[in-house]
Amino acid sequence: MKCIILAGGLGSRLGPCTLSLSKQILPVYDKPMIYYSLSLALLAGLREILIISSPDHLPFYQKLFGNGQEFGLSLSYVQQNAPRGIAEAFILGEDFLAGQRACLILGDNIFYGHGLTDILQQAVQEVHNGARVFGYAVPSPREYGVLVFDKQGRAVGIEEKPKQPKSKYAVPGLYFFDKTVVERAKRLQPSARGELEITELNNSYIREGKLSVHLLGRGFAWFDTGNPDNLLDAANFIASVERNQGIKISCIEEIAFKNGWMSKEMLEKRCDKLKNSQYGQYLLSVLSESIASV
Ligand code: G1P
Repeated sequence: MKCIILAGGLGSRLGPCTLSLSKQILPVYDKPMIYYSLSLALLAGLREILIISSPDHLPFYQKLFGNGQEFGLSLSYVQQNAPRGIAEAFILGEDFLAGQRACLILGDNIFYGHGLTDILQQAVQEVHNGARVFGYAVPSPREYGVLVFDKQGRAVGIEEKPKQPKSKYAVPGLYFFDKTVVERAKRLQPSARGELEITELNNSYIREGKLSVHLLGRGFAWFDTGNPDNLLDAANFIASVERNQGIKISCIEEIAFKNGWMSKEMLEKRCDKLKNSQYGQYLLSVLSESIASV
């Protein structure tokens, strides 16, 4: 399975911050927003990753991550010339996927919770003939794709930003698909807002009884950081957990190192590069703990 991270969109709800910057490069406390989605790919065990963004913004990500070698990853990049919808990622990513299964993560979504790594790895193992999405209860489902359940509690549809949501379960921006995803994306018609909707792609699986839904319980935190309040809430949450526990959330070097994808020498180089920051100091502690445990 390969992973696509979509860092597209105009980020207009975060203007003026996004007039000259890509939304997914903005800081969420101590690291760029895209680190949070990238870390999910790493936790899932996926190291072949495609980042899709607009022609203006792609250079930011290329500067941040290069070809991924520094982290033991293989990163590539593709332009999305206009915001034509989330599902277009699979058409733009067809060559990259080369017939493999796909995980799609939206670059402005943040997940945190105990057991997340197992949930991600389970999806990678289990999704071969169908798709998997997640459900997360929110107070204002109207802003999202929303799950519709039948009386037996089975998901029978997803509605995109419904005026009258039929459940409180939003579908976050983390999806797992089988190999048929590219062909399905090609068959989609643009919606009223002119986009290839991820919700319609998911509904194509539901109609065939091939979509599994994993509901995330109340021990999980999920943030879509699309507006200033959500962005601040996410930053405060991350800061509070990190300070209380003395850990860093979504530290990609730590995950790559623990996965065995980065050597001590590679980690040392990152420590050196980032030594003036709190983040760099944390990397040093990861390195020295690993040396102490040898
Ligand atoms: C998109 C999807 C929506 C999903 C949300 C998660 O919404 O269309 O189904 O629930 O991401 O962040 P958008 O970011 O386009 O508002």
